[in-house]
Amino acid sequence: MIICSCNVISDTAIRDVVTAADITFGSPAQVYDCLGCSVQCGLCSRSVKRILEERMGETAVWPVQTEPAPCQLMSVA
Ligand code: FES
Repeated sequence: MIICSCNVISDTAIRDVVTAADITFGSPAQVYDCLGCSVQCGLCSRSVKRILEERMGETAVWPVQTEPAPCQLMSVA
């Protein structure tokens, strides 16, 4: 299912990058960075955040980051 219509990004692509990335995401914007795009209208941010919270667990606490962590993807099998 397409989550971000501006960038044409599916929920599967987001889950794959969240699983493969070797960082703790501090914001949905970092997911877009890892996917090589950026937030446009922002309507999908809540959905991206929900996917991140699924991965981090329901007790997810968003870390405060002063600088975005670089995205380092591990190989996706
Ligand atoms: S729907 Fe994702 S930035 Fe617009």
